[in-house]
Amino acid sequence: MYVHSLDLSWYNHPFWRRRFLINNKADLTTLLALGTRVIVIDDSKGLAPQPKHDPVPDVASLPATSDLIQFEANPAKSKPAPKRPVPNGPDSTPIPLVGAARKTEMLRASKMLYRSKTELMTLFGNARMGKAISTRKITNLVAQISDSVTKDPSIILNIARLKTKDEYTFLHSVSVCALMINLGRKLGLDEVVVQDLGMAGMLHDLGKMTIPDLILNKPAKLDEEEWRIVRSHPEKGHAILSSAKCGTETALDVCLHHHEKMDGTGYPNRIKGEDLSLAARMAAICDVYDAITSQRSYNAPLSGAVALSKMLSLKGHFDQSLLRSFIESLGISPIGTVVQLTDGKYAIVIGENPEDFSQPVVRTFRDPENPELFVPKDVRISRITGTVQVHAIIYDLTPELEAKAQDTSVFVS
Ligand SMILES: [Fe+2]
Ligand SMILES: [Fe+2]
Repeated sequence: MYVHSLDLSWYNHPFWRRRFLINNKADLTTLLALGTRVIVIDDSKGLAPQPKHDPVPDVASLPATSDLIQFEANPAKSKPAPKRPVPNGPDSTPIPLVGAARKTEMLRASKMLYRSKTELMTLFGNARMGKAISTRKITNLVAQISDSVTKDPSIILNIARLKTKDEYTFLHSVSVCALMINLGRKLGLDEVVVQDLGMAGMLHDLGKMTIPDLILNKPAKLDEEEWRIVRSHPEKGHAILSSAKCGTETALDVCLHHHEKMDGTGYPNRIKGEDLSLAARMAAICDVYDAITSQRSYNAPLSGAVALSKMLSLKGHFDQSLLRSFIESLGISPIGTVVQLTDGKYAIVIGENPEDFSQPVVRTFRDPENPELFVPKDVRISRITGTVQVHAIIYDLTPELEAKAQDTSVFVS
């Protein structure tokens, strides 16, 4: 179909133009994953939608102007997945860029990202064929990504979240690099160490280059043999990096151990938490977060708030203390967590604000200043209307607060 317009600016999506033809499934998937609510198509230049299972409203019932047809892109998602996990909460997260500065950085980051993808494709392709990888080129790429993270991490992370299956491994490498840098800074690590972690993130899935695309992009469950092949990628990546004599000790370590789990049930070496390096534990978190918030061939992407909630519930997988720092580094409040607001009230995160995707909808349940006479209320946190904000996420609840939170989530509809 021919897209006449979207309810997004052209620099806010990866198609680069205001009007364009969608002629393959990968582009369609990317388009729908943008979270856009309205798409206007020109059916004189392309096809009109023919829904089989009513995924979009009947086009005949919608107003059409000449050849232009408007339809809701994501009608089932009345609360669409957030497009922009912008830092919001704890005070040490960077302040997001706004207005013209944001537009400029988005354009710059988009161009840089797509250049990085092309360079990475060449570098990883060379590595697969046994050629040397240029450490200088990787270092340059990491420096550019690091620069973008410094300006506003939400920008590069959101652009890199939209991946087609062909570019998945490359943009996933960029995302994990950016997430490692962002987390490293949150932890207050030295900038030299932060850049080293960024490189490790960039190279962590190098071994995937050896896995056939048919297996990597299989839209169904993998059989036992296919799983065995996929699970060999850390060791293969480590072997490639070792023979290419590229990558630091940290990169080698992360390449081999990013699928290990704290409880020792990961692979390839079933190493337990206390024996895993900080870099490997950080990579495990950044890797899973990007994977489950990205459009992949076999799963719909989760929003940041849902993804973090799911990760918190996976006991034994991640270093919990690091995961909390990671959540703070993104400034997203996971669904289901208890937060304290800037006015002192306690609340449960129950959703995402569709008008400001980085911010939550919360249900207040306790006012320490007025504990007896408090009526729960749903509040949309917004930086736009900017009244009350999330002050902190409370992970370790007192029994009283926990009971009250549980009561409240059932009590209010
Ligand atoms: Fe991996
Ligand atoms: Fe990965």
